[in-house]
Amino acid sequence: MSVNQASEPAAGGSGASPDAPQRKVVLQLDGVSKSFGSRRGQRSRSDIRAVDDVSLTVEEGEVVALVGESGAGKSTLARLILGLEQPDEGTVRFDGLDLNALSWRGLRRARQRMHLVLQDPYQSLHPGLRVESLVGEPLALRGVFRADRAAPVRSAVEQVALHPAPTFCRRFPHQLSGGQRQRVALARALVAEPKLVIADEPTSMLDASLCAGILELILGIRDRFGTAFVYITHDLALARWVSDRMIVMHRGKIVEAGPSDEVVFHPRSDYTRLLLAASEGELDHPAS
Ligand SMILES: Nc1ncnc2c1ncn2[C@@H]1O[C@H](COP(=O)(O)OP(=O)(O)O)[C@@H](O)[C@H]1O
Ligand SMILES: [Mg+2]
Repeated sequence: MSVNQASEPAAGGSGASPDAPQRKVVLQLDGVSKSFGSRRGQRSRSDIRAVDDVSLTVEEGEVVALVGESGAGKSTLARLILGLEQPDEGTVRFDGLDLNALSWRGLRRARQRMHLVLQDPYQSLHPGLRVESLVGEPLALRGVFRADRAAPVRSAVEQVALHPAPTFCRRFPHQLSGGQRQRVALARALVAEPKLVIADEPTSMLDASLCAGILELILGIRDRFGTAFVYITHDLALARWVSDRMIVMHRGKIVEAGPSDEVVFHPRSDYTRLLLAASEGELDHPAS
């Protein structure tokens, strides 16, 4: 990830070696803005600029944290990235494709390579479906036959450490704990072999110990499959723990971006310092 406001090139995450080969850019936003108006179709001064001139890139295998308080524009940015919302200005490129220029069919294909994981697994998992159907759904939507879904579904359930997989495959969402449900949501993301997963506050409803398990899972998936993650959170300590790089948003704008440790230990923006002060004392052990 690099950002126009950052004066230094933000090459390499905290774990990357300097001579690591150039990684492929998965996501590139240029000057993306989105306003919401009170009056439909008309611009007015009272419009909320939810996302304001945002430029960033995310490379494969990178975990980028998008940090900011409630109302900063994080979820709107996520929706723009997923093509669920059209930008007023600017372009969103995913895997080299300009989402706005794609046909409906092309957009659908591109979306199959991205996945959204939401805060509340209760909302995102259909209560009447068993885990095997929930996890297999992205494949079913692609036209993969039931018989051919069983193996990848089981493998995805194993990847998210729900053992024994056959037992979990037969369960319904109400038979799972909150942490297990979020693992199912991740397995659902994994089975489609996405290039990019957007996780919008995925652990904010979980206890700290469960939260740590999910974060470790995300890093494991990244290491194994080279999946890129955009991890959205209001929690700077948690962001530092999970991410290679951080983007701090305030009122729709990026106010700071860079390698996560650098942002935390040498913040350049007053707003980041404010966020840091709010999470002081938790930075070393965000998930314990
Ligand atoms: N569909 C919408 N219609 C009107 N205003 C919206 C809509 N979605 C978001 N907003 C506004 O845009 C701003 C950013 O919201 P959001 O992207 O949800 O922030 P965050 O996820 O950081 O909390 C907020 O002021 C919110 O009220
Ligand atoms: Mg949000």
